[in-house]
Amino acid sequence: MNFDSSSTGLPRSRKLARDPSQQSNNPIIQQSTLPAPFPVYRPRRLRQTPLLRQLVRETQLDAGRLVLPLFARGGHKVRRPIGAMPGVFQLSPDELVREATKAFEAGVPAVLLFGIPDKKDIRASGAYASNGIVQKVVRLLKKELPELLVITDVCLCEYMEHGHCGIVERGRQGARILNDPTLKLLARTAASHAEAGADIVAPSDMMDGRVRAIRQGLDANGFEDVPIMSYAAKFASGFYGPFREAAESTPQFGDRRSYQMDAANANEAMREVAMDIQEGADMVMVKPALAYLDIIYRVKTQFGYPTAAYAVSAEYSMIKAAAANGWIDERAVTLESLLAMRRAGADILITYAAREVAGWLRRG
Ligand code: PBG
Repeated sequence: MNFDSSSTGLPRSRKLARDPSQQSNNPIIQQSTLPAPFPVYRPRRLRQTPLLRQLVRETQLDAGRLVLPLFARGGHKVRRPIGAMPGVFQLSPDELVREATKAFEAGVPAVLLFGIPDKKDIRASGAYASNGIVQKVVRLLKKELPELLVITDVCLCEYMEHGHCGIVERGRQGARILNDPTLKLLARTAASHAEAGADIVAPSDMMDGRVRAIRQGLDANGFEDVPIMSYAAKFASGFYGPFREAAESTPQFGDRRSYQMDAANANEAMREVAMDIQEGADMVMVKPALAYLDIIYRVKTQFGYPTAAYAVSAEYSMIKAAAANGWIDERAVTLESLLAMRRAGADILITYAAREVAGWLRRG
């Protein structure tokens, strides 16, 4: 291409801006070739009708990418509502199967299971008990809905008396969450989920080296084909508030800032993701989603791995609360938020609204 000013008649500064070698390093600007100036280019030409808009739409939402998180507890016919999450319940195994069936029939291919055990202790024994709540529900789901993808959250916090994601050592300086001894329990938990029939395991604890420990634990038990979806960039976040009520996993002292990431750090998130991929993660997750779209974008651009975005509990609660007040349109805001995650690069969308969303997408 000839960028000589006499051939285009454009002032020199504009031509320089149109020369790709002169453009900024911002990948977004590099990708979108600068259009012809107005009135040659009129972006509104392609916005005139719904079908025209559909024809040029860059990003799509489809139900096949949704994952529905579900909370399992013991009992029969139990549906315990979560106050801050209208439409979300702690479910006994029979009720959970019903809920999963409805979601699957609406087009949601996968669920993500959390368990609330009858008893908690300081070794999280309910997490890796062969008859633990998650293990039971996994077996039941694989029997009743063999095609449904069952993903299990691998963490200890719901099973620990103190509500932390690792083993706690209390010293004179206060309590510490021990990293390496926790890895054994996580690997055991993941293997017991695979043993029960889980299709994918998803560690959410944020201990260093857990993906390696879990991969080794799975392989040693003959589960080399069970993929790991790691919560690779999981930030210490106020957006988890309602979940802690749902999963009964509020830390009894301190907080999770010594293991979950500082919300200010994006470069560190890249290292976390790189590390998990090196240790054997098959899919990586960014969590929360909406406040971390830059992280999703960078993770997808840099690694190109299957990337999940977790629209966490408060993301759901905020939309529900505003919609209940008549302040926003629930459907529009939910779909727009999920589309933003797809646009940023997420392949997989984990959301408490998965079933409604699948219904909306089907009805168009
Ligand atoms: C457990 C876990 C949490 C979430 C997923 N797994 C809570 C936490 O880390 O405190 C949050 C999910 C949500 O808020 O929807 N480690």
